[in-house]
Amino acid sequence: MRASPDNATLHPLAEQAARQAYAPYSHLRVGAALRSAAGNIYCGCNVENGALPIGGCAERAAIAAAVQAEGANFRLAAIAVAAFAADGAPLPVSPCGACRQALVEFGAGAAVSFRQPGGNWLEVIAGDLLPHRFVMPEC
Ligand code: THU
Repeated sequence: MRASPDNATLHPLAEQAARQAYAPYSHLRVGAALRSAAGNIYCGCNVENGALPIGGCAERAAIAAAVQAEGANFRLAAIAVAAFAADGAPLPVSPCGACRQALVEFGAGAAVSFRQPGGNWLEVIAGDLLPHRFVMPEC
């Protein structure tokens, strides 16, 4: 599914966020821009670290910004993810598994858009990206 015009407004914001990335190790600059159910926009970028596993993804940085601003009632309506190579060339990207799990926590019905090989943006429903996701059972 092509991104809806409404959600397409997130694309340039995700690209702008990617330019803020701190990615001296992978050189992959990733940005995310989300719209909350309340109608607000939040952005994030990847932040790497010399201790490689502790680096963080753009999507979860944007979610953290949203929760910080809106609190526990934050719900995800739509998110766009963009990536660039070190030379500034746009790259196809799709959210990693950990980010998919984070996205569905806040909006299994949210629209997730990202650039595909060939350059078109694809829009999918967050829950469709992660069938059989982990749900914390009642203990
Ligand atoms: N990365 C993201 O920011 N989001 C994803 O969904 C996948 C990967 C970042 C993490 C790391 O800084 C770089 O891309 C290479 O994995």
